[in-house]
Amino acid sequence: MSRRSVIVGTGSALPPRRVTNQQLADQGVDTTHEWIVERTGIEARHFAGDGETTATLATEAARKALAAAGVDAGKVGLIVLATATPDQTFPASATRVQTALGINDCIAFDVAAVCTGFLYALSVADNMLKGEMADYALVIGSETFSRILDFEDRATCVLFGDGAGALLLKAEEAQDRGILATKLHADGRHNDLLFVDGGVSTTGTVGKLRMKGKEVFRHAVTNLADVLNEVLAAAGHTSDEVDWVVPHQANKRILDATAKKLGIDPNRVVITVDQHANTSAASVPLALDTAVRDGRVKKDDLLVLEAMGGGFTWGAAVLRY
Ligand code: UT7
Repeated sequence: MSRRSVIVGTGSALPPRRVTNQQLADQGVDTTHEWIVERTGIEARHFAGDGETTATLATEAARKALAAAGVDAGKVGLIVLATATPDQTFPASATRVQTALGINDCIAFDVAAVCTGFLYALSVADNMLKGEMADYALVIGSETFSRILDFEDRATCVLFGDGAGALLLKAEEAQDRGILATKLHADGRHNDLLFVDGGVSTTGTVGKLRMKGKEVFRHAVTNLADVLNEVLAAAGHTSDEVDWVVPHQANKRILDATAKKLGIDPNRVVITVDQHANTSAASVPLALDTAVRDGRVKKDDLLVLEAMGGGFTWGAAVLRY
């Protein structure tokens, strides 16, 4: 037995405004429903409205995770929020979530690793729980990418959406439960393939998302297959033992190609990209909460989470739910 981080609750939040592919086309984006579905699998996404922010979505997801676990917010000793679209440059959006939850003193900070942010946050929180810095941790991915989209650029604006997902982790003495292994990577040589063309210390502006999609796609399949093999080996498991893969939801074709490369049955891959599009750091916890609530993911299932995004960054985790 050793001290492990066990998921005791999940939650998610989507802004009520749902935008279909056809609505984007009707609003002037030079695209069609058919092109978006064929190339990405996306049918719709949610966009935040007035007053809805990364922190408000994160707070709603966190509240649902706490309620699912039946745990009082006062027990949370650590909040790690993964986001590339914080409410403000500083303070960390995690502290806004903390205040909204009525927690007066805990560790709270943001992690920026774009679409891999949730895997980074999960790994950091896992190690902090194991290091006895807290007993309960909220690990949240939350994004409002609609605010950094260039709606004149049809190659990117159709791909992303807003949302949040949260896990409540509890440190427990356990053998084969909770987070079993995490692996993280970054390679900054690829900064220019997926980035935002603004920033506090450069242009002094927020900027818009820019992506060379084809090249990102090519790297994604290779990096994800490699890190999945790496993390499974570290956890002492094989791909045929996996009950569910919960991947970052960027493009259904990437999910299919990665599953094929690893020999994983596509029916064991949780897919939400059709309804949520790419919600960056929120996509993995949003997909996990969806699959927990619809009954697909059950207690004792072996799960693999994975993501790849700007930087490049990529990572994966193996856990027994
Ligand atoms: O979360 C971070 C990770 N991000 C990703 O993993 C994204 C990875 N990349 C992708 O998912 C795909 O590369 C895209 C979905 C972004 C693009 O798909 P693609 O099959 O690589 O298309 P493409 O960029 O090669 O574009 C093919 C054609 C082009 O027209 P021409 O040059 O062949 O005449 C584009 O101009 O499709 C055109 N096109 C569009 N047409 C209609 C690009 N965007 C659109 C659009 N609607 N929205």
